[in-house]
Amino acid sequence: MGLYYLLILLLCPVNGVVNAYGALDTDPCVTYTAIDEPKRSTAYRANQTWEELLCDENLLSGWYRFVSGAGGEMPINNDIPAYHCGTHIPLYLNGTHPTVEDDVVNRTACGNYLGSLCYQKYQMQVKNCSSYYVYFLIRTRGCSEAYCAGDELECQSGYVSPNGNFTPDCQDLDECTRDVHSCHQICVNTAGSYYCECMDGYILNTDGYSCSQTGASTSANVSDGICKTHHCSLILYFFIYNLIH
Ligand SMILES: *[C@@H]1O[C@H](CO)[C@@H](O)[C@H](O)[C@H]1NC(C)=O
Ligand SMILES: *[C@@H]1O[C@H](CO)[C@@H](O)[C@H](O)[C@H]1NC(C)=O
Ligand SMILES: *[C@@H]1O[C@H](CO)[C@@H](O)[C@H](O)[C@H]1NC(C)=O
Ligand SMILES: *[C@@H]1O[C@H](CO)[C@@H](O)[C@H](O)[C@H]1NC(C)=O
Ligand SMILES: *[C@@H]1O[C@H](CO)[C@@H](O)[C@H](O)[C@H]1NC(C)=O
Repeated sequence: MGLYYLLILLLCPVNGVVNAYGALDTDPCVTYTAIDEPKRSTAYRANQTWEELLCDENLLSGWYRFVSGAGGEMPINNDIPAYHCGTHIPLYLNGTHPTVEDDVVNRTACGNYLGSLCYQKYQMQVKNCSSYYVYFLIRTRGCSEAYCAGDELECQSGYVSPNGNFTPDCQDLDECTRDVHSCHQICVNTAGSYYCECMDGYILNTDGYSCSQTGASTSANVSDGICKTHHCSLILYFFIYNLIH
């Protein structure tokens, strides 16, 4: 029994399972390599002046599933501009996606370049796994060309969405009420960020987060509940003055 399970472990590649007969399951819906690369989105435009472009020149032939929040489907539109999908020549699926019943279908991946809708051409296969697709892809002949997948973008920093922080519906993250800020005293939310303020009698330190007491209320630990107005430190001062005299 123990040896049997050991064998199963040894036979299992990443994402693979052993079927009822102990043979490796070759269903690409089960045995595939996941690619999590949001920049493959058709909506993502690479900044070619400083950003390293995606290139599938070293991609090993095999079944792939695109799993990033940008979306898992290769585009079937042929008008993806250069530098979108994080690469110079974006590769799209020329044709339609299959149904589950179609099983594995042959298709062509095309790269639109120099006025030709299919300047670059690669044989590929697609299978519909009911709730997602897997693609059999081969390496590209050169750089920079890459297979596109999805059409959403990551939310800007400081924004979140119900879709795993991808578009649509990116909304400002309120760091203050969500308690993910570093302010020692008062947190003020802004679009995409926040800043800190201090209560009366305190000044913000240069770190931008912590507060130090100003001279007027040196001995008082002024808590949020007591001091709300600008007169606070003054009142406190007279209170302490009267106590002493
Ligand atoms: C590319 O990045 C550089 C440096 O950050 C920036 O100055 C430039 O405006 C960017 N270009 C585009 C097209 O976004
Ligand atoms: C792309 O698909 C269209 C329609 O199926 C077909 O006519 C055309 O030959 C394809 N192009 C290539 C390069 O496979
Ligand atoms: C897969 O095929 C079914 C029909 O067999 C279809 O309803 C579905 O939209 C297709 N694609 C995905 C990703 O589910
Ligand atoms: C897909 O292509 C392969 C090799 O190019 C071929 O052997 C196979 O018959 C094709 N399948 C279909 C359904 O056309
Ligand atoms: C002020 O009071 C709070 C809580 O009562 C305490 O955590 C903090 O260290 C005090 N600060 C000073 C400067 O005494």
